[in-house]
Amino acid sequence: MIKIDYSGVMEKSVREHGIKEEELEKFDISKYHAALESKIDRKEIGFYDLPYQDTSKIKETAEQIRQKFRYFVVIGIGGSSLGNLMLHQALNHIMYNELPDMYPKFYMLDNPDPVVLEGIMRMVNPKETCFNVISKSGSTAETMANYLVARNELSKYVDKSKLPEHFIFTTDPSAGNLNKIADREEIKRLFIPQNVGGRFSVLTPVGLLSAAVTGIEIDRILSGAKSMSQICREPSLDNPGYLIAIIHYIMFNRGKNISVMMPYSNHLYNFADWYRQLWAESLGKRYSTEGKEINVGQTPIKSLGAIDQHSQIQLYNEGPNDKIITFIRVEKTNKDYEIDATPYRDIEGLSYLTGHTLHELLLTEQTATAVSLIKNKRPNLTITIDEITPENLGKLIFIYFTATAFSGELFHINAFNQPGVEMGKKYTYGLMGRRGFREYADEINKIKKEDFVLTLP
Ligand code: PA5
Repeated sequence: MIKIDYSGVMEKSVREHGIKEEELEKFDISKYHAALESKIDRKEIGFYDLPYQDTSKIKETAEQIRQKFRYFVVIGIGGSSLGNLMLHQALNHIMYNELPDMYPKFYMLDNPDPVVLEGIMRMVNPKETCFNVISKSGSTAETMANYLVARNELSKYVDKSKLPEHFIFTTDPSAGNLNKIADREEIKRLFIPQNVGGRFSVLTPVGLLSAAVTGIEIDRILSGAKSMSQICREPSLDNPGYLIAIIHYIMFNRGKNISVMMPYSNHLYNFADWYRQLWAESLGKRYSTEGKEINVGQTPIKSLGAIDQHSQIQLYNEGPNDKIITFIRVEKTNKDYEIDATPYRDIEGLSYLTGHTLHELLLTEQTATAVSLIKNKRPNLTITIDEITPENLGKLIFIYFTATAFSGELFHINAFNQPGVEMGKKYTYGLMGRRGFREYADEINKIKKEDFVLTLP
């Protein structure tokens, strides 16, 4: 069950900052819907097909890994890492790696900060480690560098002839360096459909292999996504993806430039992180599809309830009214603790907690926070799921894919490219001396100025 309560964004709740009922009712969904549908029909957008894929090869590969290895390290970044982290945190035990009986241990090598690799190499036994290198393009500098260094480290423990057995590549079906290496060294590969970009790829082998390796039932995730795939193509406000997109679009046009995602669940904190990339990279665009400079996009922020009540909520309640806040609330938890303050029954400030549970406190705090925001006329919506299951996560993922794709139509932008990211990649290649990118290094060297730098001892 998923419930989206959007009363907190309506005029009735937050007055002049809210949306009028007729504004929603009269919203011309059909023309944006038609534009999106024609892209789906032309197979330009691939995520709609993902719930229907055959997962047998992923599951078979995962089983082989589980039989052979005790450590599983994903090497990837951005859309090639955030979805894995999200599924793992949401659906595995919150202390998965720390539990003695949980294998294979799961690690993420994303940042090319050497401390990450050093840390991972200390945790794993290299001889029992499988590395899953994920890169759609097969050229991202961070991933390729981490791969090369990890491979070199591994070669100190594993015979050269055996090295390829320790790697699996997840990449484009034909292009990129990972395919060249895999051909040369006979490394096993899984493929990402061509029409599915990085941040939309969690339901491909990108996210599903590491999920299956750590014991998650990936078909249940896809079955949840499948159950949303029809409703998410309805041209109406009953389409949860369209509803979320339209609310955010109206809010953006009212100056709500920031979109906060605040789950009240440690399991879903990485979901907020995944959303942060999806929303930022897809919708933060300089040009419209007609080539007009528009500089649109809401800045996504991730928060965690109740922790950020003691950090961010003061700002959300009383700072600039420039945010729309989405709470995620989970009704049931599989483990809860009753609070017993009877040893301190004479202390009124504690005794009121007796008989309540930790989860009850968490949910009560979410309610209290939403109410305080409404009191301060701060628009917010609450998504409630009955419990964290693979099905519910699949549904949420699909709803947010749809919200993002539909927002692209509303803003008249291409939600599926990332020229701003590509530009940074090109400057990095230039500065690191990659052939063909010299002009980017020259450009940077020309503009580098020391005039406005404060250097301290
Ligand atoms: O969403 C995207 O396209 C990006 O964030 C990519 O996932 C990221 O740049 C990594 O790219 P690649 O998978 O090609 O290494």
